[in-house]
Formats: sequence, C-alpha cells, structure tokens
Amino acid sequence: MISRRKFIQAGVILATFPKQIVLAGRRLFRNNFQVPTLEMGRRVGKDVYFDLNIQSGQTAILPNKLTPTLGVNQSFLGVTLRANKGDRVHINVNNHIDETSTLHWHGMKLPAKADGGPHQPIYPNGSWLSEFDIIQDASTLWYHSHQLHKTAEQVYHGLAGLFILDDDKSRSLNLPIDYGIDDVPVIIQDRDFKQNGAFAYMTSMRDRMMGKRGKTVLVNGVINPVLKVKKSLVRFRILNGSNARTYHLSFDDHREFHIIGSDGGLLEQSHTTKRLRLAPAERVEILVDVSDGRMPILRHKSRHKQEQGRGMMGMMSGMMDDGKDMDILQIDASQAIKSNRSIPANLVKHDNPKPSEVVKERKMVLEMKMGPMMMFGGNPFSINGKAMEIDRIDEVVKAGSTEIWTIENNSMMAHPFHIHDVQFKIISRNGGVRGHELGFKDVVYVRPNETVRVVMKFPEFSDAKIPYMYHCHILEHEDRGMMGQFTVV
Ligand code: C2O
Ligand code: CU
Ligand code: CU
Repeated sequence: MISRRKFIQAGVILATFPKQIVLAGRRLFRNNFQVPTLEMGRRVGKDVYFDLNIQSGQTAILPNKLTPTLGVNQSFLGVTLRANKGDRVHINVNNHIDETSTLHWHGMKLPAKADGGPHQPIYPNGSWLSEFDIIQDASTLWYHSHQLHKTAEQVYHGLAGLFILDDDKSRSLNLPIDYGIDDVPVIIQDRDFKQNGAFAYMTSMRDRMMGKRGKTVLVNGVINPVLKVKKSLVRFRILNGSNARTYHLSFDDHREFHIIGSDGGLLEQSHTTKRLRLAPAERVEILVDVSDGRMPILRHKSRHKQEQGRGMMGMMSGMMDDGKDMDILQIDASQAIKSNRSIPANLVKHDNPKPSEVVKERKMVLEMKMGPMMMFGGNPFSINGKAMEIDRIDEVVKAGSTEIWTIENNSMMAHPFHIHDVQFKIISRNGGVRGHELGFKDVVYVRPNETVRVVMKFPEFSDAKIPYMYHCHILEHEDRGMMGQFTVV
C-alpha cells in the first residue's frame, strides 16, 4: 500500500515508483542515501592542491527523467572538500559552463581576494586560483556560487558543496569521524520540477518576494533517502543549502539528539534537544543515538499553525512558512552495530571575542519595500536604505579589531544575515540565545521586528580595494539588493 498523502503530493510521476511505501503500518523510504564524493586534494606537506571544475550535466533525480543541473567535479552539487587547520590550500577553479560564475568559501576566514565573492568572477572557459591558509578550527563550512544577481539561480541548479575542516582538538574527542559511515553530510534543499524534469525556478510574485521555495526536499540531491547506518551513533553535518526555506527539524518519534556544532565549529558543550531551527546557509552538527535499531524519520514541521491568526504579521510568517510539513530522510538502524564513539558533554573551549575590546559598533537595518518595486523588478531589498552596488564600499573595518554589529529587521519576514570572513557570537536577541546559536556563527536568523547583536573579531587580512560581503542569505533577497560591502584594512 502506498501512502496516500505522498501520492497526492508527488503527483503522477511517483505513482509508478513510490519514494516511500507503508509496510505493517511503518513508512519505509526507498531511495538510497547518497554521500557526496570526498575530495582531499593533492597533498605536499601542508600544501593541498584542489582542482575544481564548474560543470553542467544531466542528473537522475526523478524516476525516468533527467534534470539539467550544475555541479562541481560532478553533474549535480559539489564534491566535499576537506582540509586541516594549518594547511595552505590552493584551489584552482575552472569554469566549463556558459555563464560567469564564482565559488565562495562560506564561513572561511581568508584574504578578500581569495573569498570567491562577486569580485572574483570566473568567465566561461576561464579559471581562478584561490590560495589561503586555514587558520580556523574544525568546522563544517560550505561553498557556493556568488555571482552577482545570479547566485540564487546558480545555487538552485547545483553550485554548492561542503568544505569540512579538521583539527587535532576535534580529532581527540572520540566523536564519530568516518566520512559517510558515522560522520554523514546532509545537504537539505527544496526544489520544484517542471513536467519534463527540469528544475522550475522563480515564476511567481511570491517567489520573488519570499525567495524560492520548492515542494520537494532533496538530501544530497536525492528525494527522501534512507540511510542504512552501520554504527549506533551517527554524526550528521547538516547544511541548509536551500535558497529561502527555514526548517524546523525533529524526528517523527520525538527522539532526543545532541547538538555539538554550529556554523563555525564545535560548541563548548553538547546540547540535548528534540528540535532545532535551521535557516538558509546555517549548519549544525548533531549526534543521534540509534542503538534502539529503529527507523526514525527526520522531518520539517511547519510553524504555520502556531503563527497564524496574528494579523498582518501572522499572514506574512504564514507566507514565509508555506504550511508544509516535509519528510527529509529516514535512518535505518536495523543493521547498526555498537559504536565505540561517545557523546562528550564538554567539547572545546572557545576563544570568545571580548566585549571589552570592542572598538566600533555598526548598525544594519534590513528592509524590503512592498508595492510596484516588488512587482516590476528593481532592487526592493536593502540594508541601511541602500541596495547593493558593486562599486560602493559601505563599511571599512580595521584589521584585527573587535566590533559589535546590531542587525535590525524592519521588514515583515525573517532574514538570515551573513557576514563574510568572520565567525561571530550572538550577544543578544529577543527571546534569548540557545542551542547551536551559542556557538560561533556566520549566519544569524533575524525575525520580523527583531534586533540581534553580534560580536566578532576580524582576522588580520587586509586589503584596501577588494571588499567582503554581508547580506541576507535568502538568495533572491541577496540578488535583489539586500547586500552590502566592507573592506578590512
Ligand atoms: Cu554563503 Cu556571501 O555567502
Ligand atoms: Cu559567505
Ligand atoms: Cu532576506
């Protein structure tokens, strides 16, 4: 018997090939989990050489159809890069697609010219060499296209992958660390498809305003996969690689799990919970104990119902969260053997930016204009009243200094705010800071009418000419103006 709800959601295509079946009252996912290929580069001592190719291809995502996709060293999405603290990486990126693109190392502390933002375009048939020292702690970073006005579309088609960093401290903790075995990357993305199998991107007014959200969730490019785990303790490195959707994640059997890491690396203490919120571009590392041998489903529970009925605000958050509960993946632990890894209560000690060393405060006001601007193009999204201009530097930061930024959201929807080149700590937000938000962050979710304060120490890299970006990580907002530029000197 096929789950009727799924049937209706997925339409005719899956009727002949259900992605889930129900057996003896239990739902079973059918698609195999896909672990992104690991790319360790060519190592000569501390120097690591990566060769990356931005390419296009055809990928089997739906049954009996091919989807035109973009990828890095493969047809869809990017290979997982991995390097160590203390390494110097040399990444050569070749562009084999017929539009200009970039690859940005999201979350990385690095010189501006190596950042891969809109100032480092790679033209068709061109290449770009990015070289930098890895100066930060073990973490789950990622990379994606940052082509001006094209980021959303290029990421949607597949230009995104993980960049994992390791260090001695994290290796000494007895955490699960076998890639693809008990240390498993989970890139969550929502997509829509056309009849012919191609991705359907940006058509409605609502997509233009709220950002593009799709009805189908992919994990590492696969619809609702099942992961057959071999060990009873699994570490998931979850990236919300979606353009616009924020997920509220929990397991269908309400089991507890342990948050051990945030955007910028391991937390000081592991944090036990049953749910977490993950906004676009945020990462979280969790440990899940599946020694009970069950088959829990990780899912997104819409907040729509709770948020409804609060006037205009309720309506807007209703639009933001389109009311869909979505299954993400299933764990099959029936074959798992006992893991010898542990769930440490204490993880690492953070070298926190010191409020006493703050030399400068800045304010970032996020706004969106409604009305004709929204309908007829232009850049309706802005920061401090200004839409992104590639030739305008908005802020100049002193290298090595500590700053507090206050991010104020004056619009009626939430925006995940991201800053390049740093990992910050959240000092305050309405409603308090908890869970993975206690760790180092490079993205912070700012709710409507909320004010969030973050503190950070900028690295010593200095460049008077080439700026870094700060922006909303709803990619359609970024592409249409909600981005600014700062130099560090
Ligand atoms: Cu994830 Cu400016 O980027
Ligand atoms: Cu970034
Ligand atoms: Cu936004």
